[in-house]
Amino acid sequence: MGRQFFVGGNFKMNGTIKSITDIVKNISEADLDPNTEVVIAPPSLYLLVTREHLRKEIEVAAQNVFDKPNGAFTGEISAEQLTDSGIGWTLTGHSERRVILGEQDDFIANKTKTALESGLGVILCVGETLEQRESNKTLEVVTTQLKAVADLTKDWSKVVVAYEPVWAIGTGKVATTEQAQEVHASVRKWLAANISQEASEKTRIIYGGSVSEKNCRELAKQSDIDGFLVGGASLKPAFVDIINARA
Ligand code: G3H
Repeated sequence: MGRQFFVGGNFKMNGTIKSITDIVKNISEADLDPNTEVVIAPPSLYLLVTREHLRKEIEVAAQNVFDKPNGAFTGEISAEQLTDSGIGWTLTGHSERRVILGEQDDFIANKTKTALESGLGVILCVGETLEQRESNKTLEVVTTQLKAVADLTKDWSKVVVAYEPVWAIGTGKVATTEQAQEVHASVRKWLAANISQEASEKTRIIYGGSVSEKNCRELAKQSDIDGFLVGGASLKPAFVDIINARA
């Protein structure tokens, strides 16, 4: 289908100026598969230092964005401020924001819409909890999360969908290749039915949840897995091996 492989590194709330500079310099200087699109998401305080030290073809993402353009919203960052600072991407809907900070589907959809309208690319995270998977609600949960965004925008040309089963995040319990492929294929089918055939063919659907240099190659072979959103392993030198999973 010609979808470019996409690997995001989500540093979450980790790092210091020194450690982040070291990590991004290491990524910048590494021998990376030129066919992989790479996006690094450091904590917001370190977005600019990350931009400064990364080679220019690697993009930087915020981990979060607000849904209003400016104003009295203490602690928030707008999409316009991100683009003004040379930041090309943002995550929305990460499960840590959904579960720990209580972000709801409609709020996440509003942020996604605002970010897209400001010209940002969006890594839209979706995924089910263990309880939801065990009660066979995986697809219902994931499609409800996607539908909230689809209700507000049908232009998905700058959306990357990150399927991240909550039970696999930071736990070392990676989804099996079959489990991941099954959900990715269903998301692709959903995109065809609810957005367009073109969106279904072109949208990158990436997997996140305990991806490592050990399991990435097998996952990357699946026809509907177009890359990864990597947490813990993105802070380590082995992240380069994950970027090169299809090389
Ligand atoms: O955003 C990344 C995901 O939450 C995955 O995190 O690779 O540490 O499991 P992890």
